[in-house]
This record gives sequence, C-alpha cells and structure tokens, in this order.
Amino acid sequence: MTSIPEYVIETYGLTKVYRSGGGAVVAVDKLDFTVEKSSIFGLLGPNGAGKTTLLMMLTGLTLPTNGSGRVLGYDIVRESREIRRRVGFLPEGFGFYEHLTAEQNLEYIAALNDIPKPERRKRIEDILSLVGLYEVKNRRVSSFSRGMKQRLGIAQALIKDPELLLLDEPTAGLDPEGSRAFKDLVLKLNSEGRTIVLSTHLLFEVGPLCSSIAIMNRGRIVVQGRVKDLISKLMSEVGYKIYVEVRGDLGKLASALTGMEGVRGVRIGVDSLYVDSTRDIRVDIVKIASDMKVEISSIRVEEPSLEDLFIRYYRGEASNA
Ligand SMILES: Nc1ncnc2c1ncn2[C@@H]1O[C@H](COP(=O)(O)OP(=O)(O)OP(=O)(O)O)[C@@H](O)[C@H]1O
Ligand SMILES: [Mg+2]
Repeated sequence: MTSIPEYVIETYGLTKVYRSGGGAVVAVDKLDFTVEKSSIFGLLGPNGAGKTTLLMMLTGLTLPTNGSGRVLGYDIVRESREIRRRVGFLPEGFGFYEHLTAEQNLEYIAALNDIPKPERRKRIEDILSLVGLYEVKNRRVSSFSRGMKQRLGIAQALIKDPELLLLDEPTAGLDPEGSRAFKDLVLKLNSEGRTIVLSTHLLFEVGPLCSSIAIMNRGRIVVQGRVKDLISKLMSEVGYKIYVEVRGDLGKLASALTGMEGVRGVRIGVDSLYVDSTRDIRVDIVKIASDMKVEISSIRVEEPSLEDLFIRYYRGEASNA
C-alpha cells in the first residue's frame, strides 16, 4: 500500500533538455518543486518558461533528461502508468471530435480510460452537470463556444474521478464571463478535496485564484510558496504602509512618529497620516496617540497585492535577462 504523501507533486533536480539540429534548449532546469495536497496551485510564467514540458514530464508523456519526481507518491519514470490512471490532465489546446456530441465525446474518453460500461452513463451525467454542460449534452461540439469546449476539456479530465487535476492554460481565449465560470468551477472542484494545478501565462487572471504559486521563467522557478506567506515576506522586505485616520493635532502626532525606530517616513494628508515603516507599529501608534490625546478613528496596514508580488519577482527576474 502506498502511504499518502504530504505533497501530491515533488520534483528533485528535474531537468529536460531538448536537442535538435545540433542545438540544445534547456526547457526545465534542475527544478525542485512541491505541490501541497488540496491546494489550488498556480504554475505561472511567460511563454516558453517550461510549464508544458514540466506537466508532460509529470504525467510521463516525455522523459526527463535528469533528476526525478513523484506524483501522488509514484515515480514519474517507473510508475507513470499509475500516475496517468489517477491524474486528470487537460493538455494545452485539447481537441474533441467536433461532429460528435459532448456526451459521445465523453463516452469515448470513458471507454479509453476503461471505465466499466455500467458506470459510464451516470458518471458522465454527473460530470456534465458539475461543469454546467448537462443541458447541452446532445449538441455537437462543433456548435460549442470556446468556454463550453474548455469546460468539456475539464470534464474529460474528471472522467477518472481524479484527486489531482493538471490543467494547462485552461483560461486561454476565454471572455470575462467564461473566465469567471471557470474560476467558480475550480473552486467547486477544490472544495471537493481535489488538488488543482493551473499552468498559465495569464498571471493576473489566474493568480488570485491560487492558494500557492510558483513563478517560472526560463526553465527555473523564481519564487514559490503559499500566497499569504509570500505576501507577508514581501511586506517585511518592502516595509509596512500604515494608514492612520486622525481627529485632532495631526502635526504633533506626525512629528512624534517620525522619530520612532523603524519609521522611514511620515506623510501628512487631509485628516490622515501615511506611515512607511520597516515594522508593523500599529500598536505603538495607537499608544502614542492616546498619550497625546489625539483621537484615531481608523488604522490599517496596506498589504501588498499579488500584483506587487509579481512585479517584484517576475518582472524583476525578466529584466535581469
Ligand atoms: N518538442 C520540443 N522540441 C524542442 N524544443 C521544445 C519542444 N517543446 C518545447 N520546446 C522548447 O522548450 C521551452 C519550453 O517550452 P514549453 O512549451 O514547455 O513552455 P511553456 O511555459 O509551456 O510555454 P507556453 O506559455 O508558450 O505554453 C521553449 O523554449 C520551447 O521552445
Ligand atoms: Mg505551454
């Protein structure tokens, strides 16, 4: 029996070099990376970063040049059949038989996956309901919009009732509504306990959906971790922006704060102060104000956004090229 791993994906020095015509491209470069069970994991990076190559190695569709990895505890080289049986995969640009209906396409895929015939109908109907295509199950795929095809792509990945889903560029070409429906579906699948890995170059669109991310560029991971940990790390690096709304003598409070340890600057606004500090000094600010009999009506820390995180780690890395 296989013990349940803490990580559904782990790689060690995983490397893929493509050789063609005397040249060599290092598509994935000594990658150490993990995906925690039950997370929504964003594998984010620009075109050519190596995302698709990585997913193909994880599912045994291409062999690593070096290094190793495990998916659901199974070795990606020696036990890739087990992995393919258990992992739902939506490859980049997945295509269906356009002249068949949605249901017929899924029946075909269920047969390929050895889903026993008596189970197929119910399983397919459940999945079609889950992805919101039940009403159109008898329509030919040729009449589907891009968003509907994308949902059918996720449906085929769900045929095996997988605990892990790997979706390569799942929002490519979706309009805002299609993209919102996709996000709702991912949240629903995740709430059922499934781990979902989303690979995409659309950082800003998909990033906010993720509990953990890895930013990949030129075959390497630039930064990875839980989004909330990365944000607090960023906050301790770039400092805390504390916004204080004040009733009373602004100037007096501002000059008291200016001399405090860790304070890099204090800006005075209309009825408010904006404190730039290396530490979270909200408690100290409240105390000083109260000692001075200056009333604070609100105080809050402005957290860096995911966008700030991307700008720091992703653009920063890109500009080092
Ligand atoms: N079969 C192949 N033969 C040679 N080079 C390849 C092959 N597949 C990918 N590459 C190269 O490997 C690198 C990584 O490609 P990959 O498709 O994995 O990136 P990606 O992050 O998925 O990009 P995209 O966002 O465009 O899908 C690129 O430089 C690409 O040109
Ligand atoms: Mg790709």
